[in-house]
Amino acid sequence: MKEGLYLKIPASTANLGVGFDSIGMALNKFLYLTVTISEENKWLFHHIGPNVDGLPADESHYIFQIAQKVARKHNIVLPNLKIEMRSEIPLARGLGSSASALVGALYIANYFGDIELSKYELLQLATEFEGHPDNVAPTIYGGLVLGYYNSETKVTDISYIDTPKVDIIITVPPYKLKTSDSRQALPDTFSHTQAVQNSAISNTMISALIQHNYKLAGKMMEQDGFHEPYRQHLIPEFKKIKHIAKDYAAYATVISGAGPSVLTMIAPERSGELVRKLKTEFEQCRSELVTINESGVSAKVLYESL
Ligand code: HSE
Repeated sequence: MKEGLYLKIPASTANLGVGFDSIGMALNKFLYLTVTISEENKWLFHHIGPNVDGLPADESHYIFQIAQKVARKHNIVLPNLKIEMRSEIPLARGLGSSASALVGALYIANYFGDIELSKYELLQLATEFEGHPDNVAPTIYGGLVLGYYNSETKVTDISYIDTPKVDIIITVPPYKLKTSDSRQALPDTFSHTQAVQNSAISNTMISALIQHNYKLAGKMMEQDGFHEPYRQHLIPEFKKIKHIAKDYAAYATVISGAGPSVLTMIAPERSGELVRKLKTEFEQCRSELVTINESGVSAKVLYESL
């Protein structure tokens, strides 16, 4: 008999500089959820480890809220569930922790509500909740995903490109930065000239990535005009990390998502030296090598032992 569901949900890095709200890449750091039927008459959350410390244990939990919204949308009633949550993804650091929780909630509602949503439909729902696909699309599918959410038709279209053959270093500062605060720093409007310029930078970046021309892709990533110029003051370490990374011939250093984590793309031959240098220079941050996740969320049904 089916007893529960085990979910392993990857982190993600959004934007890659010029791909604001539309480009993202899944990373091999995970949110782990073990979901079973609750023996009590309510949902229960049990958090293990530092990255999920302090999250609510009751029905005010984000996962509960989202799962119930999905259930209502499909006119079903979910059973009371017990959710054990562990995470390698630090909260509010620009590494897609809330997208991972959102995707987890959708998978939970889909499975325990027996709804049979396809991956395509899960993506549509996830984007509708999140407002843009840059974190949720790679979290669901893995790899490097580009997407557009049309808020009028509520349709999300996505496209993939080959995973870049580069090494990735993330530097995670000790402080949190809420996405809402980081979005507050952005301008409300852009002139036509600015829009054309940034679209050209973005197009060239994508074409260069497709051709595995990382030097050119990196040059374009670092010319983003959509968000970095307005956000970098929120991350005091950013400029220095970028400067040091250049000494190691890194392709690009950009803000990961809404920040404050910083992502560096670099050739595999130089990544070890650079990550060790960053660890020494920024002792208060956590600099580490992270690999790109190619498979997205994985779900395993748990069976009662006989
Ligand atoms: N594209 C988003 C941003 C990612 O930069 O604000 C976080 O949701």
